[in-house]
Amino acid sequence: MSKRTFIWFGVLILVLAVVIPFAAFRAKGDGETGETEVPNGLKQAQSLFVTNCGTCHALYSAGTDGNYGPDLDELLAASGPPEGDQEKIEETVKNLKGRVFNAIENGVDSSTTPGRMPPGILNEEQAEEVSEFVARTAGQG
Ligand code: HEC
Repeated sequence: MSKRTFIWFGVLILVLAVVIPFAAFRAKGDGETGETEVPNGLKQAQSLFVTNCGTCHALYSAGTDGNYGPDLDELLAASGPPEGDQEKIEETVKNLKGRVFNAIENGVDSSTTPGRMPPGILNEEQAEEVSEFVARTAGQG
C-alpha cells in the first residue's frame, strides 16, 4: 500500500467510525421527543409532565400524545394561547393554573368512572410547577 493510499484509508475509517455515528446520534437526539422549546424556568416542569401526565394527555408543548384523558390543548385553550395585554394574559394563566392544579391534587372523575385521573400524582411543589407550565403553554399545537 502506498503512503497516500494508506492516508486516504485512514480518513475513510475516521469518517465511518466517528463522523457518521456522531451525525446519527445528533439527529436522533434532536428529533426524539418532539418537545418544543420552553423558557428555562419551565424545563423541569415540562419533563415532569412528559413522565407523569403524557401517557394520558396530549399536550403540544410537551410533545405528548396520550389519549386516555382529554387533549389539554383543546380542553384548556381551544382558541390558542392566552392573548391580550400582559394583565389579561396573567389572569387567564392564573385561572388555568388553578384548574390544572386542582385536577392534579384532587384527581378527576369521569361521569361514568370515578378516579379516572388519580389524585396526588405529584407532590405539591411539582404540581405547582407543572400547572404553571401547562397554563402557560396550552394551545400552542
Ligand atoms: C391515568 C391517566 C391520567 C394521568 C396520568 C393524568 N391524567 Fe389528567 N385526566 C385524566 C382523565 C381520564 C381526565 C378526564 C376525566 C373525565 O372527565 O373523563 C383528566 C382530566 C384532566 C384535566 C381536566 C380537568 C378539568 O378541569 O376539566 C386536567 C387539567 C388534567 N387532567 C391534567 C393532568 C396533569 C397535569 C397530569 C399530570 C400531573 C395528569 N392530568 C395526569 C387522566 C389522567
